[in-house]
Amino acid sequence: MHLCYHSNRFENQVMVSPRQLKILISHKEIAEAVNRLACEIERDYQGKQPLLIGVLKGSFVFMADLIRQLDLPLELDFVRLASYGASRESSGKVRLIQQPQIPITNRDVLVVDDIVDTGITTSFLLDYLRKKKPASLKLCALTDKPSRRRIPVPIDYLGLAVPNKFIVGYGLDCDERYRNLPDIHTQED
Ligand code: IMP
Ligand code: MG
Repeated sequence: MHLCYHSNRFENQVMVSPRQLKILISHKEIAEAVNRLACEIERDYQGKQPLLIGVLKGSFVFMADLIRQLDLPLELDFVRLASYGASRESSGKVRLIQQPQIPITNRDVLVVDDIVDTGITTSFLLDYLRKKKPASLKLCALTDKPSRRRIPVPIDYLGLAVPNKFIVGYGLDCDERYRNLPDIHTQED
């Protein structure tokens, strides 16, 4: 279980203090990874009109940087997923709370995700999209935490592998905070 805040009982009050942040991937390294991914995607989708589907909310910063490096006649959409229950850990039961608006049948669909952790939400989304018969379906993930995988997920375009630590920044949050940080940080004890 990943926790992102320390909570201490103090005179019957729960004091919550943020953990220390430490840069894991600098904005420069992120930009290099995004450039490399854009080159690979641009090369593979020549002559096509891909539909990029971002997974909200975490992928919005990555998506914004990625599409501005892509010289392709692409279209853009977003989905939003939620796990049942309030736990930080994926409960294993996922539901789609925002469906794609653009029809995906016969489209070259590229899912853009912030992180593949257990793989539960991403594999649920890929299964859902596959049933709608896209012409092709691929996954681009900014980060991958392979040590936590519970369901195998093939990542066609991977930015960076990360260690088994909770990360925040560049769109990734801890209880909705830190999405605006330009670098990716780990939370230290
Ligand atoms: P899953 O465990 O692969 O299903 O990941 C579910 C979601 O949990 C991801 O899309 C992220 O939004 C979130 N998540 C997983 N690991 C982290 C992390 O280290 N930092 C921030 N969010 C995370
Ligand atoms: Mg996500």
